[in-house]
Amino acid sequence: MTEEFGLFIGGKWEKPAGAKRFVTRNPATGEELGSFISASEKDTVRAIDAAQAAFKTWKETPAPARGQMLLRAAKIFKDKKEQLGSMVTKEMGKVIAEGKGEVQEAIDFIEYASAEGRRLLGETVPSELQNKYCFTVRQPKGVIAAITPWNFPVAIPNWKMAAALICGNTVVFKPASNTSRCAVEVVKIYEEAGIPPGVLNLTTGPGSSVGKVLTTDPRIKAISFTGGTDAGTKVYQQGAGTLKYVHLELGGKNPQIVMDDASLDLALEGVLFGAFGSSGQRCTATSRLILHEKVYDQFMAMLLKRLKTFKVGNPLDKNIEMGPVASQDQETKILSYIDIGKKEGAKLLVGGEKLKGPQYDNGHFIAPTIFEAKHGMRITKEEIFGPVLSVIKIKDFDEAVRVANDVDYGLSSSIYTKDVNRAFTAMERLEAGITYINAPTIGAEVQLPFGGIKNTGNGGREAGTIAIDEFTEIKTVYVDFSNRLQKAQIDIDG
Ligand code: UN1
Repeated sequence: MTEEFGLFIGGKWEKPAGAKRFVTRNPATGEELGSFISASEKDTVRAIDAAQAAFKTWKETPAPARGQMLLRAAKIFKDKKEQLGSMVTKEMGKVIAEGKGEVQEAIDFIEYASAEGRRLLGETVPSELQNKYCFTVRQPKGVIAAITPWNFPVAIPNWKMAAALICGNTVVFKPASNTSRCAVEVVKIYEEAGIPPGVLNLTTGPGSSVGKVLTTDPRIKAISFTGGTDAGTKVYQQGAGTLKYVHLELGGKNPQIVMDDASLDLALEGVLFGAFGSSGQRCTATSRLILHEKVYDQFMAMLLKRLKTFKVGNPLDKNIEMGPVASQDQETKILSYIDIGKKEGAKLLVGGEKLKGPQYDNGHFIAPTIFEAKHGMRITKEEIFGPVLSVIKIKDFDEAVRVANDVDYGLSSSIYTKDVNRAFTAMERLEAGITYINAPTIGAEVQLPFGGIKNTGNGGREAGTIAIDEFTEIKTVYVDFSNRLQKAQIDIDG
């Protein structure tokens, strides 16, 4: 029997009989992992009621005490790292090292955010008048909606929630439906850590009910959304109706440039990890290899040789290098892009098909796929979100940067070169929120800002100290202890 899970509202798990439900499945085997409630609009309103009711007390809880709560949660995440890492792998399909790595990323950020409980820094600046102090303090925004994707079902919710919670906000969490089991496990950890009722609420279910209410209810003060560009644009438009602060982390079409002076062995490991890690289902995945003509043949021979022994299979097996893609929808979309690539004349060098065989037949396995493409083809411009790499030959550095930048997205980017001047020039010229030098496009660390430009978002960044800006209002305070009316701009000499 598939285990049934409920909604978490006001500190209680609710499992009303007869509620509309859906299941999630292991994309490698088809096994059911849990049955979840498809929350209605009414359920979502109740979750916001609970978050609103809890807000005053949570806001007034000293920030260091909120930090202690987060540290307790981090400790439980550590104790459960193996178990939760396996659940990520089972539900989403990334290999077990990455599943555990993702739990570690959550732990790292929760610990980092907890320390903000002893900072949450404001500014103190001089006044133009005597006997007057001017400074800023941070205050929470209120109820936050965290709308999260399936590709990082533990790390990304925690980027959002830990930052929102340390600042004193309360949260309604709407996870991607196909990773609802991971979402439940995350919320259970916060419950075990002693989060007060209503401070964190979970509403599993679709955008049409849960998302609709979260983007339109005036009590939601900010939405932190990670997902596709179309859904993100809709969230932004709907949120505008009640002037919500909307933070968007959307797609990418991330290039790895390999110059003629690069260490090719290093660049090879980088592109394999960047393109096929998490089966290419990261916003930061390498989907374009921009390769200098002088090393083109040599590098491609190395890449294709290495792929002959590249192991695809059940991601729980630690010898496996790539697992399935996350769902039937993903499979269909990726295969259709492979078709588009073939039709527009890109040369398929390897892969390009659904894998067949006893270990693959119950899952969504697509072979690592490489196209030799011409810049401008759809497969070189649109986000595929799968294990499909387009290789583009370039003549020189200027062309590499021009091609890298000529897409609608701007999340991550990478260049392999030993020339320090070129590396810094690339850092300056690549249009992306993140640039790696001699490292793949994936692997962001939590103590630094994460986000992008162009259609990748609307200007915000997550993680790092900047995450605190996303979830606080700045209050400017003037304290006049002169005991007389002092007029700024007027009572000053000269
Ligand atoms: C994402 O794909 O949305 O840099 C996040 C990385 C990860 C985060 C990716 N640490 O690949």
